[in-house]
Amino acid sequence: MKVLFVTSEAAPFVKTGGLGDVAGSLPQALNAKRVATRVMLPLYESIGEQWREKMTFKKYIYIELSWRKLYCGIFELKHEGVTYYFLDNEYYFKRPGTYGFFDDGERFAFFCRAVVEVVAELDWEPDVIHLNDWQTAFVPVYMKELQYRFPKLNDIKTVFTIHNIEYQGRYSRDILADVFGLNEGWYADGTLRMGDSVCMMKGGILTSDYVTTVSPTYAQELQYPYFAQGMEGVLSLVSDHFCGILNGIDTASYDPATDTRIAKNYDATTFADKAVNKAELQKSFGLEENPDVPVIACIGRLVAHKGMDLVMSVFDRLMSLGIQFVILGTGDYKYEQFFRSAKNYYPGRFSANITFSELMARRIYAGADIFLMPSQKEPCGLSQMMAMRYGTLPVVRETGGLKDTVRPYGTEGESGFTFANYNADDMFNVICFAVDKYYNDREHFNEIAVKDMQTDFSWSRSAAEYKKLYMNITGKR
Ligand code: GLC
Repeated sequence: MKVLFVTSEAAPFVKTGGLGDVAGSLPQALNAKRVATRVMLPLYESIGEQWREKMTFKKYIYIELSWRKLYCGIFELKHEGVTYYFLDNEYYFKRPGTYGFFDDGERFAFFCRAVVEVVAELDWEPDVIHLNDWQTAFVPVYMKELQYRFPKLNDIKTVFTIHNIEYQGRYSRDILADVFGLNEGWYADGTLRMGDSVCMMKGGILTSDYVTTVSPTYAQELQYPYFAQGMEGVLSLVSDHFCGILNGIDTASYDPATDTRIAKNYDATTFADKAVNKAELQKSFGLEENPDVPVIACIGRLVAHKGMDLVMSVFDRLMSLGIQFVILGTGDYKYEQFFRSAKNYYPGRFSANITFSELMARRIYAGADIFLMPSQKEPCGLSQMMAMRYGTLPVVRETGGLKDTVRPYGTEGESGFTFANYNADDMFNVICFAVDKYYNDREHFNEIAVKDMQTDFSWSRSAAEYKKLYMNITGKR
């Protein structure tokens, strides 16, 4: 079985969120299951010299996108047993940053078109092309467009994975022909049409052979308008070939026993050494050094669907508990500003880090006691698993992958604390409960933390599920 994994980001080369982590670790896990997996992504400016010097230039081709004729260089790199193809076009990708440009639709339409034409040219033929999120959603659309020119495309099956339905790649219909090079039929028959605009993700969902998302609960939730952002009807059309497969994390990289970026390594048998990391965290993040105060941490994009409104609305009540709080992430201005200014009111107790840093994230996972993730919507969520791996108990809302990975305190298999409704008081109450357990039942609190460290969050199980899926749709082994 040969799979081409197409993504707009992959760790360690380029990562803005969970998709980068998934694309950086699932291909390895698939290879370990004897699914020969290669990865294709854009060659962004930010991909540094240390990688570029190891790449080999294979060749270049020209891609036609409507009236544009565009250069596409193909670079290859082998990293930890996986072959990566980087597609180069400086006009689209030599820019500061990964996403957020006015012409993102055009940039990723180019990428999708290039993927299809490169596959047609390559001396390696995948059985399955596995697509991820809207940036890659036009691959199956262009495969259908180009199937007569390249008959071998007809033998390739496609899987489309939704990592987050909040981002769909919606653009004005005016650009359908002029930018995407697609005829009116794609719009008129509804494949790409959403209201009065073109929705790239809809195209990916409707033209792929199979659709997945990143947790079983999120797959259920996507039936409802509250979660699906207008896409519930589209997903009901594919319900007979749609399922949720839970993500894993890179347990070799996120391992407190070997992670070289934390102050002191520890494992389930030396859990007490986590305290060294806590002291170090307090020292370097401007918190008072006190081993007995619980440190609550929050890492992630500071945006509404991650539950930031809940945190903001009970912030002062939260800080009135005997806790310390550390936050790491960037996002919407209103949240960034709120946390920046809140820092002045709670010196030594609240640490606002409006940035993203892998190093800081790891030190927080290792040093904190409680990890807060009150998402309104969470397709899978990886941070709660990383926190548990470092023995930090999660407090989560019961949604998407959070529900699938965290069992509430006091129930069978308890692994953290949960609340059901998207409500600030409910969140506050469960944090109070967790803090109370920290102060008054530390032994049991730590027992759960040690158990969490031993839970298997690796990709092995999910990679096996993907393999089964690839075999089902191709009929190959
Ligand atoms: C997105 C989702 C997150 C998920 C990740 C990887 O970032 O928001 O919940 O874990 O993709 O699939």
